[in-house]
Amino acid sequence: MAAAALGQVWARKLLTAPWLLGGPRRYASSSFKAADLQLEMTQKPHKKPGPNETLVFGKTFTDHMLMVEWSEKKGWSHPRIQPFQSLTLHPACSALHYSLQRGRERDRELETSMREKHRSAASCTPPTGDMPATKLFEGMKAFKGGDRQVRLFRPWLNMDRMLRSALRLCLPSFDKAELLECIRRLVEVDKDWVPDSAGASLYIRPVLLGNEPSLGVSSATRALLYVILCPVGSYFPGDAMTPVSLLADPRFIRAWMGGVGDYKVGGNYGPTVFVQQEAKKKGCEQVLWLYGPDHQLTEVGTMNIFIYWTHEDGVLELVTPPLEGVILPGVVRQSLLDLAHSWGEFRVVERKITMKELLRALEEGRVREVFGSGTACQVCPVHRVLYQGQDLHIPTMDHGPELILRFQKELKAIQYGAKAHEWALRV
Ligand SMILES: Cc1ncc(COP(=O)(O)O)c(C=O)c1O
Repeated sequence: MAAAALGQVWARKLLTAPWLLGGPRRYASSSFKAADLQLEMTQKPHKKPGPNETLVFGKTFTDHMLMVEWSEKKGWSHPRIQPFQSLTLHPACSALHYSLQRGRERDRELETSMREKHRSAASCTPPTGDMPATKLFEGMKAFKGGDRQVRLFRPWLNMDRMLRSALRLCLPSFDKAELLECIRRLVEVDKDWVPDSAGASLYIRPVLLGNEPSLGVSSATRALLYVILCPVGSYFPGDAMTPVSLLADPRFIRAWMGGVGDYKVGGNYGPTVFVQQEAKKKGCEQVLWLYGPDHQLTEVGTMNIFIYWTHEDGVLELVTPPLEGVILPGVVRQSLLDLAHSWGEFRVVERKITMKELLRALEEGRVREVFGSGTACQVCPVHRVLYQGQDLHIPTMDHGPELILRFQKELKAIQYGAKAHEWALRV
């Protein structure tokens, strides 16, 4: 790995709570090592999808997976690349009880006490006592270029975020460079599974879960870290960009100050399915997550949000909410900010955005483009927001969308190797 890339790696930008990295010391010194990797190749390779086959996200898996076990007594096991297989878990496994179960409790809560929750959010306090979720995950992609080379996109940032999440859940620490090298080796083993059709990629899903065989709510003394791979098709078929419509309903809250919305933990996602269904019932594709009494725009579905507009002060700017506790520090978010800064053509700012500001800007014709950013789609235009009975037309597509297409082109060039860049890690 290039030294420059390593420097960027442990980049400060994603660390909204740097004290956490110096945090729990009990695991600080131990990690597994890529040099100890054991490799067991499958004896029954599966048929790979054909180039014209439609790949539904997350339903097709490659032949191998990475597995590392941890226990408080023995530390980390040697990492293994092994045939893709089911897990055997104790029925009391802490990840099963205190991650997804918590989600269902919160769904019921949403249905029964909207008003109460709204008041809680307005005063910026967590609606309920938090149970520890003992499961976290990451999402990143590998891309195969015209030169047949496979590249990972800024995987160091995913490693940063994963370690932050691990420490927040009192799961064991690990060496980020060692995990990344194990993932690189796994992708190398399954590189024939990386699709090469336009816009397609290999989705990489690292998971770390508490595997405590006990019902006690405490830190886990056993854990499993594993990584699985899924070939995925292009989010937007062809070059066409399909914009999405959003339900912005302040009764639903994804994350709150003091909570874990800025970590990629399982418990943040289960409860959103109910709200996503509400959006569907109202004819919207995704949820625009609002927060606080002033209805701040925070995220779109599982994407960060950006607005490209002329600000009230008359200056053309790209704005996204700051990483102050309720926003997941997205890798694509950081990349769009970095690209826009490097162009130096308009103001780039991380600042709170409220619905009132958006409504005023729409009335005054100052909005150019509104879009989400994330690993799944890269950049996704927004054309409509349903907010308090108002159906707001967002003129993103009327403006090209020039900036979105420019970002998409730039990211693709780096990811598929048309442009050599330090953000790409060759597998
Ligand atoms: C809540 C949330 N926000 C934003 C993102 C975008 O993050 P990234 O750009 O790292 O995919 C994701 C996806 O991981 C997410 O789950």
